[in-house]
Amino acid sequence: MAENYYITTPIYYVNDKPHIGHSYTTVLADILCRYHALFGENAYMLTGTDEHGQKVEKAAAARGMAPIEHCNEMVVRFQELWKKLGINNNDFIRTTEERHKKIVCAILQDLYDRDLIYKSKYVGHYCVPCERYFTEKDLLEGNLCPDCNRPTNRLEEDSYFFRMSQYKEWLIEYINSHPGFIQPDFRANETLGFLRKELTDLCISRPKSRLSWGIELPFDKDHVCYVWFDALINYISAIGYGTDPEKFEKLWAESHHLIGKDILQTHTVYWTTMLNAIGLPMPKSFFAHGWWRYNDEKMSKSLGNVVNPMDMIAVFGVDAFRYCLITGMVPGQDASFTNDSFIKRYNSDLANDLGNMLSRAVKMTIKYFDGKLPAPGAYEDVDKELMDQALAVATSLRENVEQMRPDRGVEDVINVIRSANRYMEKTAPWTLAKQGNMERLATVLYTASETLRIVSGLLFPVMPEKMKELRMTLGMNETEATQVNTERLSRWNVLVPGSTVKDIAALFPRIMPQEETAKAETEKAPVKQEKKEKKEKKTETVAVGGDEIVTIDEFFRTQLKTAKVLEAEKVEGADKLLKMKIEVGTEQRQLIAGIAKAYTPEQMIGRTIIIVANLKPAKIRGIESQGMLLAVKSGDTLKLISVDGGDFPSGCPVG
Ligand code: MSP
Repeated sequence: MAENYYITTPIYYVNDKPHIGHSYTTVLADILCRYHALFGENAYMLTGTDEHGQKVEKAAAARGMAPIEHCNEMVVRFQELWKKLGINNNDFIRTTEERHKKIVCAILQDLYDRDLIYKSKYVGHYCVPCERYFTEKDLLEGNLCPDCNRPTNRLEEDSYFFRMSQYKEWLIEYINSHPGFIQPDFRANETLGFLRKELTDLCISRPKSRLSWGIELPFDKDHVCYVWFDALINYISAIGYGTDPEKFEKLWAESHHLIGKDILQTHTVYWTTMLNAIGLPMPKSFFAHGWWRYNDEKMSKSLGNVVNPMDMIAVFGVDAFRYCLITGMVPGQDASFTNDSFIKRYNSDLANDLGNMLSRAVKMTIKYFDGKLPAPGAYEDVDKELMDQALAVATSLRENVEQMRPDRGVEDVINVIRSANRYMEKTAPWTLAKQGNMERLATVLYTASETLRIVSGLLFPVMPEKMKELRMTLGMNETEATQVNTERLSRWNVLVPGSTVKDIAALFPRIMPQEETAKAETEKAPVKQEKKEKKEKKTETVAVGGDEIVTIDEFFRTQLKTAKVLEAEKVEGADKLLKMKIEVGTEQRQLIAGIAKAYTPEQMIGRTIIIVANLKPAKIRGIESQGMLLAVKSGDTLKLISVDGGDFPSGCPVG
């Protein structure tokens, strides 16, 4: 076992709005890092932002700002999202920091002094969105970037070049003799395929007259460093290369780069040859994961189908979103995102399998043992079978994580919970209670609780907050609940009989799938209130004011806002429905509500109403409703919920 583990994410272009793709890489790195720590290694994670280059310079100019001010504003979006997503990175590097720029300059000077960088003329094309150089032959349809299909710019200018071509044979040999260096294997083949074509020297500078936002070359003040040459160095500048040799050597020897498939070549060809020139050993591995697609289409701003992680957090909560991300993709392959696939996975694995199991075990301990975890009696075969499966899963999880299949490892753990639910059916503790067989009941409930302890420990890296909650429910104190290690997870009898278990509301309240949401929408009109209540019981949604309690966080997942009604009309053929155009802050939406018996369209126009703003749009009688208004009903009387006095603008949060 390696003593240390160092994992990096790509550093993200600071201009970009963080989306589900960035979140996936960062969450995956965080989960891998937490698993390696759980396995007893000193695990270290680095992420950060890529802040130089033409894109940033252009965006800052468009806002009339200095590039650094623009970066200072933009970087916060990444930092805050990572905080929100529970990312436990040890460091966050920005390429505009002095500690980074100093190392980039030292490396440039050293390579220049050793004639590994030389001056010549660059003639070729440049893609600004990808920040990549291409030759005429690389381009599609004459002028289009082979990666993103956008037009490139032709350049002809004095530049500095890194003698990358001289490392071609060495790199081919290195990749061939180090299986697992580039993963999955087909990405190693892709790199080899690229290398077998002509490998040119790499242009690593731009004249300042054309682009000034970059690190100045230490040997020529009229040029700045190419953004990729600068960015890749973050992986070593952040961990003390040139400043803290002890830390650097310890971490670099166990370094793993997690990247997306689109930036394979910049890493496996540019970075490896740069490292060789610098005189450093190769990282342990590169792993290129696939892309999240939306309903099998590429996600892109122009198609308007980019999934915003904040929207996902609002629906699923942080931990369940992490769970759905990690289990929804086989690392290395592309995955298709749909809301429904996430909701299905959530409901089946978390709400049904894990949530139900916990609630069964805890509720029966409370009911039959006064909330004190009972001591087990003699174990029977059926108990031992579950115990063995639970005790074995840590090993298979570890193997899977080491083979970069955390999705499969987590599936194995969930399978233990599925077995535990079957175990409850087989042993029927409720019948044992009826028969007064308390000793056997004690063994069953203890076995169920120990299984939950092991499973929750193994899922801790994926869902740290929820698993802490689960473990405290089983009677552990905060320290025990959060200090998870493989030794305790491969041992039975850790929960102490006599500990007090806690009653909690559903750990993962069920989320209604899309079709059900659509149906329920029509029923949500207050005129059908009783039907709605029946439906809610059936689908186990969290009922505010019912007998199920919601936490404040769960409550705030529902965004209530003020809205102004701009237009209103009756829906043809539906005597209870009004169709309205409403204003919510700067946005306009369409809303369908079952209030036509109580309010005429004229009475609605100009009114300020309260709506649920983050409800998934649904079709009512074939017309889309983008939200739901709040009203109260008693008998036949229906009244809108409104703001008490004052002229409130639309879009104000309510809560
Ligand atoms: N700044 C460079 C990386 C420099 S590393 C020294 C960069 N940044 S990026 O912000 O454009 O992309 C960062 C990562 O996000 C890449 O690994 C990319 O693969 C990933 N993703 C972008 N869209 C994605 C999906 N739709 N799905 C999964 N990941 C995707 O490139």
